[in-house]
Amino acid sequence: MVMEITDDVYWVGVVDWDLRHFHGYELSTHRGSSYNAYLILDERPTLVDTVWGPFEDELIENISHLIDPAKIEIVVANHSETDHSGALPAVMRCAPNATVVASRRGVQSVEGHYHQPWNFKPVVTGDKISIGKSDLLFVEAPMLHWPDSMFTYLTGRNILMPNDAFGQHYATAFRFNDQVNQKELYEEALKYYVNIVTPFSAQVIRKIEEIKPLGLPIEMIAPSHGVIWRDQPMQIVEKYVQWAMQEPTPSAVILFDTMWQGTRHMAEAIGQGLADKGIDYKILHVGVTDRNDALVEVFKARTVIIGSPTVNGGVLPSIMPILEGCRGLKFQNKIGAAFGSYGWSGESVELIEEHFRACEIPLVREGVKCKWQPREEDLAECRKFGQELGEATKNE
Ligand code: FEO
Repeated sequence: MVMEITDDVYWVGVVDWDLRHFHGYELSTHRGSSYNAYLILDERPTLVDTVWGPFEDELIENISHLIDPAKIEIVVANHSETDHSGALPAVMRCAPNATVVASRRGVQSVEGHYHQPWNFKPVVTGDKISIGKSDLLFVEAPMLHWPDSMFTYLTGRNILMPNDAFGQHYATAFRFNDQVNQKELYEEALKYYVNIVTPFSAQVIRKIEEIKPLGLPIEMIAPSHGVIWRDQPMQIVEKYVQWAMQEPTPSAVILFDTMWQGTRHMAEAIGQGLADKGIDYKILHVGVTDRNDALVEVFKARTVIIGSPTVNGGVLPSIMPILEGCRGLKFQNKIGAAFGSYGWSGESVELIEEHFRACEIPLVREGVKCKWQPREEDLAECRKFGQELGEATKNE
């Protein structure tokens, strides 16, 4: 499938309807994804990014509908992760004299992946390459989301190709943002931001501030996953700024797992306490909830309340990916608290609190424990705990 997205610029990528887990990231992709590659037919035919290796034949076939792939002169590798560079060897077998353009770290990384003596041209921010009627302008974007990441801007057509930034894992019949379901689009854009970009939120704000003064007209933002933003393309940039600020709504999320329902009853009583204070909350049983979806709810909430019974002197294993996600994604502007039932030794609450400290999420107060199944007075204490957390949620 090939699509002309504007004069002489073609989407030659692949829609991956089957993808349900994104490669090594353990990232759920309920709606599939796409690997977007762009072919620019100017005097020097240019390919911006490739696709994941298993789809290399489809990419070459797509290109072949438009030109002989041997005529490609420039291949831009905005980012070396193999969902974008995986088909580079196939492209270079067709066009062995093409120049591979990448950031300096991108060159190192592509060389490290493929060990090939290709013609490399490292570029830095502000470098331009004329390809005929248009120029390619490069902007390094380290840590958005890898050290090698780079944006390519096509003058004349005014297209920003920022690779992973502004993407979505969203397989669709259509290629443009105005052609798809807006609710789904933003659910996927947010999930992508939360699970991939959140740790680099400060870099997002800096990069956008750096690009603004360049005054580049932007008619399209064409990322490497999901749809192309052509209708009001800056809407996703504005959303990124908003998400990067990490200003949560005054709401709470209670994440728990349970063995024999004791910790569940505690979670529900804490929820009642939050509601008493007018705080909107969600209760997520992490044993049956997708981890990445749960982390989206953590991102949205101000107050994160995590509960587990004590099992073998620790927490239930299903809790650990959430705790690890909170640490790795470096959520900001949160407050936290822990709770849990136990039968014998009761370490789970302290362990969760240790994790909160490691995540630099301040604790509102010490956690609540309940020995065996909660009695009426235990549930009353949980409700009071919820009320205190509700007050803190309002006041923080
Ligand atoms: Fe879509 Fe960082 O790869």
